[in-house]
Amino acid sequence: MLSTKSLDIESIRKDFPILQRKVHGKPLIYFDNAATSQKPKQVIGAITGYYQKYNANVHRSIHQLGEEATAEYEKARQKIADFINARYEEVIFTKNSTEGLNLLAYSLTSGLKPGDEIVISQLEHHSNFVPWQQMAEHLGLKLKFIEINKNAELDKESIKKNITKKTKIVSVNHISNAIGTINPVEEITKIAHENGALMVIDGSQSVPHMPIDAKKINADFYVFTGHKMLGPTGVGVVYGKKELLENMRPFLYGGEMINEVKFEGTTFNKLPWKFEAGTPNIAEAIGLGIAVDYLSKIGMNNIFEHDKELVEYGTERIKEIKGVTIYGPKERGSIISFNVKGVHAHDVSQILDSEGVAIRAGHHCCMPLMGVLGISSTARASFYLYNTEEEIDTFIKAIHKVKKVFGV
Ligand code: ALA
Repeated sequence: MLSTKSLDIESIRKDFPILQRKVHGKPLIYFDNAATSQKPKQVIGAITGYYQKYNANVHRSIHQLGEEATAEYEKARQKIADFINARYEEVIFTKNSTEGLNLLAYSLTSGLKPGDEIVISQLEHHSNFVPWQQMAEHLGLKLKFIEINKNAELDKESIKKNITKKTKIVSVNHISNAIGTINPVEEITKIAHENGALMVIDGSQSVPHMPIDAKKINADFYVFTGHKMLGPTGVGVVYGKKELLENMRPFLYGGEMINEVKFEGTTFNKLPWKFEAGTPNIAEAIGLGIAVDYLSKIGMNNIFEHDKELVEYGTERIKEIKGVTIYGPKERGSIISFNVKGVHAHDVSQILDSEGVAIRAGHHCCMPLMGVLGISSTARASFYLYNTEEEIDTFIKAIHKVKKVFGV
């Protein structure tokens, strides 16, 4: 019997064909959702439906298929805008969060002067770290880091100390992919704005798991990716406030983002297409629209509660095992990052895999954070709406097997 406190998991699981498969002869237990989520048949069907029924380019071809493709692509944009409480023209499709953050790092730093400051945090994924670091090196800007405290939360004093009148851009994640810390993004946004800085949020791990109201958070930009929220790979989103996007330089140049090209110069398309150069990821955007329908039907509050129940249950169970260290604060997103004393995280992952349990092990693209924590890697289990407490019980048994195999 599957646990179903917040969600009807039995019926949800029927929508995910991959959950029927076996791995090494054992039922698949997929706990690598922070890396990518599985896809329901509705999303898979929408993608094949596009290719089978109305495959055509968008915004170009004056024929039935072109009209249908354009309508579905733009309908997906509207769904995503509604999902995060944004305006239609404030939703820009990108390839993923990484491309979105690069777009912002390039575009927002043009016009900054040497000595201007950018503030990120010690918790950032390389995608919200390296683009700012590289632009800072290139333009002579100063990159500063909000530090974490002993609970692995952003330190309040460090936030206040680092964000000053010299700060031009602040960029932090909403939830840490490596250890699950949930950051006080509304508070940080307020401090950034009081100092005249722009606020960017990497929402890659938050949008899939909790209701997001872009207007309420009030950040200037909010970036996320489709594949961690039941959508396909190859599509992400940059939300940006319209008045800011209107005054920004495009990031990529080419077709579609053009208004008029002359030998003397070029003018650009209106929002949001000004930032969507070339043939876009049409099938992927349509698939993401259907993923948003799916999540909305279940309800983001219900998903948040379900994930919370799982992470609390998992944490309690894993704490019973001697020699296991958990990283991150008590209140976390649906991520348990841990190490088994005397066993490398890769070995933990390999033995769990032999029991059908898929987790991620490594630095989780957060090498600076690993350095701050004094480790090189962790094993990470991350949950989503189709996971159950029974699966966590099997995962716990598999950790006991790890200890047995390594004699620790
Ligand atoms: N950023 C993804 C992760 O944390 C890939 O695994």
